[in-house]
Amino acid sequence: MKIVGGPSSKELAKKISTLLNTSLALIKTKRFPDGEFYFKFDEDVSRDELLIVQSLYPPQDSHLLELFLILHTARDLGAKRIKVFIPYLAYSRQDRRYLEGECLSSRMISEILENLGADSLYTIDVHNRRVLSMYKIPTYNLTASRELARYFTAKNLVDPIVISPDDEEIAIERAKCAAETINAEYDFLEKRRDRYTGEIVTYEKQINVKGRDAIIIDDIISTGKTAANAVRILKKQGAKRVFVGVSHALLLGEAVKVLNEAGVEEIAGTDSVINKYAKVSVASILVEALKKEHQS
Ligand code: R5P
Repeated sequence: MKIVGGPSSKELAKKISTLLNTSLALIKTKRFPDGEFYFKFDEDVSRDELLIVQSLYPPQDSHLLELFLILHTARDLGAKRIKVFIPYLAYSRQDRRYLEGECLSSRMISEILENLGADSLYTIDVHNRRVLSMYKIPTYNLTASRELARYFTAKNLVDPIVISPDDEEIAIERAKCAAETINAEYDFLEKRRDRYTGEIVTYEKQINVKGRDAIIIDDIISTGKTAANAVRILKKQGAKRVFVGVSHALLLGEAVKVLNEAGVEEIAGTDSVINKYAKVSVASILVEALKKEHQS
């Protein structure tokens, strides 16, 4: 198998190729003066098994088009099998029409990836599992919760407790998974978002955090409001330190400021999004999944 490192995930692709002891495909990429993307394989990939690595963090539309061009080229040149690893699968919010007349973005992405020739898809902590059920090809939703929890164990945690800032089943599962990894308790807060205004309300509930370190585990930080609400509630209830571990640290606009003002101790994200908060790599998570699949 050869690894193809898309422009958004070059370093991650390198890490994966090192862990798998396989080569990185030789490629050339550039942008034309008008901004259009150019891609070229610099070696023969016909009959090869390829793993394309490209995360879809902002600018997600550019990253998507890069992925489409790489995938199309690989299939067109006769690659035998193409696995796609998209750590952050953008456009995972619109899996159905929540309001009449809305677009079905997730379905469109699934149709394009399949039509372009992806044979299987791997992702990390997809925002909504229903998104993956739209695919006809095999899909694998992996989690970074364990690695994020392990990252915080180096902080001399005091009687840690893991908190989901949201009461969605998938969010509570992530918190549970993180808690089990470090033998900690877990709990969750209830959050509601207004579909029209985007406003978030987190309901205060008594959690036994007094004098303890809390780790909030979430899939995405976008505006930072969900995590900040949780940090504020936990600090108000006497938590010693509140850490935030997030699979996809988009941290848009004032998100970091909002979190700092709420009293966050540290934010740790993964290399699904490239920024200074990418403290945990998802490379080993994918490699483990590929090995498991190979054994079965
Ligand atoms: C919500 O369903 C997600 O799990 C995240 O909590 C949410 O996307 C975070 O968004 P924001 O940072 O804008 O509150």
